[in-house]
Amino acid sequence: MLKAQKVELTPHGDEVTIDRVMADDEVTAWIMKADYYLGKQGYTEHGLRHCKLVSKIAYNVLERLGREERRCQLAAIAAYIHDIGNAINREYHAQTGAMTAYAILTRMGMSPEEALDVAAAIGNHDDVGSQTISDVAAAVILADKSDVHSSRVRNLEQLSSDIHDRVNYAAKSSFLRVNPDEETITLEIKIDTSVSSVMEYFEIFLSRMILCRRAARYLEMKFELDINGYKLL
Ligand SMILES: [Fe+2]
Ligand SMILES: [Fe+2]
Repeated sequence: MLKAQKVELTPHGDEVTIDRVMADDEVTAWIMKADYYLGKQGYTEHGLRHCKLVSKIAYNVLERLGREERRCQLAAIAAYIHDIGNAINREYHAQTGAMTAYAILTRMGMSPEEALDVAAAIGNHDDVGSQTISDVAAAVILADKSDVHSSRVRNLEQLSSDIHDRVNYAAKSSFLRVNPDEETITLEIKIDTSVSSVMEYFEIFLSRMILCRRAARYLEMKFELDINGYKLL
């Protein structure tokens, strides 16, 4: 009779941590190149600032909910490299990024089991066609969609013609508040309405807010949106 093979799912000792991923030259090259090409196409900033911030927020989401440290680390890693696929093409960047992340992380010594969790979270972070398939994926979605900020706008001359730039430029602050006691995850945004209206925010971010609501629900939390002190969702 065949015996089931024992598979070591998590390597002990030298686990791939967010610190190791951030220090990896290949990872840095992918992030920088992705941001460079997006800049050429007129997209907002997707560089180290975006990646570090989203990584920190994703870690905090799971940590605030009392998840195991390793799951928080995987969320931080997935969030840090979620946009690397943009180095290849904006279209399908979630999928190309997922495959690339898997190759890089296993090269660094991550187990296939963990690398697949990270890859699946990356492959499900884009606005279209994404599903919340794990706690790591939920944390990445919530963290990524909460980074709306004026500092992401590269070209102020585009403000009148580009709604994405206008909405980002109008956002003077954004904060994702996780409240385990009230079972809520609230995206708090301050918008300068002289630059962009709240209506414009909804026009481009409605699909993202729906993703956030699904992600929060996966974590058994309720998603709320607070703009300028008003609860809109
Ligand atoms: Fe993305
Ligand atoms: Fe992103």
